Amino acid sequence: MSEPFASPPTELPALSDCSFYHTMDLPGYGLVEGEWDLRRTADVYLGHVNFAGKRVLDVGTTDGFLCFYAEQQGAYEVVGVDLSPAHAWDTVPFADETTMRESSQFQAGIARLNNSFWLSHRLLGSKAKLVYADVYSIPRAVGEFDIAIFGAILLHLRDPFLALQRVSSRVRETVVVVDLLWPRKLLLYLASGLLRRPIVEFLPDPATKQPRETWWAIPPSTVKRWLAVLGFEAQRTLYHRQRHRQRWHWLYTVVARRVRTL
Ligand SMILES: C[S@@+](CC[C@H](N)C(=O)[O-])C[C@H]1O[C@@H](n2cnc3c(N)ncnc32)[C@H](O)[C@@H]1O
Repeated sequence: MSEPFASPPTELPALSDCSFYHTMDLPGYGLVEGEWDLRRTADVYLGHVNFAGKRVLDVGTTDGFLCFYAEQQGAYEVVGVDLSPAHAWDTVPFADETTMRESSQFQAGIARLNNSFWLSHRLLGSKAKLVYADVYSIPRAVGEFDIAIFGAILLHLRDPFLALQRVSSRVRETVVVVDLLWPRKLLLYLASGLLRRPIVEFLPDPATKQPRETWWAIPPSTVKRWLAVLGFEAQRTLYHRQRHRQRWHWLYTVVARRVRTL
């Protein structure tokens, strides 16, 4: 069986060839600004999960920030999964001329994210492993996990349930899902939660051709229902604000524990 984990690049990527999704303090480089700053709020972002001694999978790890956090919290082993330029991002296939151009820009963007993982990995002395794979087909050889983190990724996937199904089948204990709370979707949340209608809203609009990389507004109650189908019971749901560039956004985190196996 071939080794499922990516090898670190022989040459350390230059900072100018990286894109940081998260703000990080990197030894020798100082503060590197990313889009989101979770440095003081990672614990609430991840639903106060205890990582000590656990084998952890971080799905859609980007620059590895959550991997490194789990590692610093005492995880026994951490594996990040993300795309590489060899994979296609699930962008919305609007029938227009920019779609093809954009998808090649995405591939270049992914290479810069991969670089930021490896640069921080080296500077932080991390032992986390990275797998280049599509979430729907993570190689079996990667093994099983105690905890899987889906940080702000389900909204970007064409088939979020399939992603949860495939990954959770390898999770022994806990699934953590973090996703966006859309400020203008109060009715959606009320209908889904209070009226017990586990629905999602399809966001791409052919009139505006937006959004281009986000598919769904997913209420937390729908995530809980999906996880319950898969044998996980929600233990807690947290609502929190996180800083994205200069603005604050509401997100939620569902922490669910395995209560049934197939
Ligand atoms: C919005 S970022 C989330 C970063 C981080 N998990 C967090 O919570 O802050 C989404 C990440 O998911 C990755 N991604 C998107 N589609 C994917 C797929 N089909 N398989 C694996 N990773 C994917 C992207 O490359 C990106 O790094």
